[in-house]
Amino acid sequence: MSPKPLNTDRPLPLRPLVLGAVALAFSAIVLGRAQAGGSHWFPPVADPLVKEECGSCHLAFAPSMLPAASWQRMMSNLKNHFGDDASLDPAVTAKISEYLVANAGDRGGQRYGDKLLRGVTGTTSLASAPLRITELPKWVREHRKVPNWEWKHQEVRTRANCTACHADAARGYYDD
Ligand code: HEC
Ligand code: HEC
Repeated sequence: MSPKPLNTDRPLPLRPLVLGAVALAFSAIVLGRAQAGGSHWFPPVADPLVKEECGSCHLAFAPSMLPAASWQRMMSNLKNHFGDDASLDPAVTAKISEYLVANAGDRGGQRYGDKLLRGVTGTTSLASAPLRITELPKWVREHRKVPNWEWKHQEVRTRANCTACHADAARGYYDD
């Protein structure tokens, strides 16, 4: 039996718009899987308020990169934020905090954040929860081969400047 030719006498009921959307969703899933394989994908901040308020001085860090206790600790003292005053009004602070905690790396539904949180201690107490992604044991290990001069490069300057080296960090990809 030979396969039927694609173009028969009747036009196929193609609906390009719908098919396009399906194809897009599919490639996103495949891409997500591929990234989940050899590399890591960290869902980027999706909330516009968090993106705006926490993305003005640096990349709005993916909430799954830190445990809930870390976000609580950080959000409870925005006035002393790594030497900066990042304080916001209480209602906004509460909203942002809620989002970060709900999407934290040790909360349900996180498939990738746990990789970065491996070996992290102190997450049961607010006082000892880590505040820096760049000090997590796993992060340090992933970056041990980065030479010193690279951290000091004028386009990098600080370990927290993820996008200097990970061009696609804002979309959650860290494999280049
Ligand atoms: C006024 C500027 C400013 C704003 C606004 C701000 N930050 Fe920061 N943030 C900083 C500075 C400065 C650092 C330290 C960067 C460094 O070490 O080079 C930092 C560091 C961080 C780090 C640690 C990065 C690391 O080294 O792993 C996290 C996490 C973080 N900020 C989260 C937030 C969140 C969440 C918000 C929103 C509530 C926010 N930031 C808003 C200035 C800001
Ligand atoms: C000076 C450049 C530089 C900066 C800045 C930097 N990284 Fe990296 N990062 C690297 C290199 C190089 C690797 C190793 C890539 C590899 O082994 O394939 C890496 C690896 C990673 C990995 C593991 C990816 C994988 O596929 O295994 C993650 C996650 C990551 N970085 C997150 C971050 C985050 C988050 C920040 C900012 C807080 C950051 N990096 C800042 C250079 C950098």
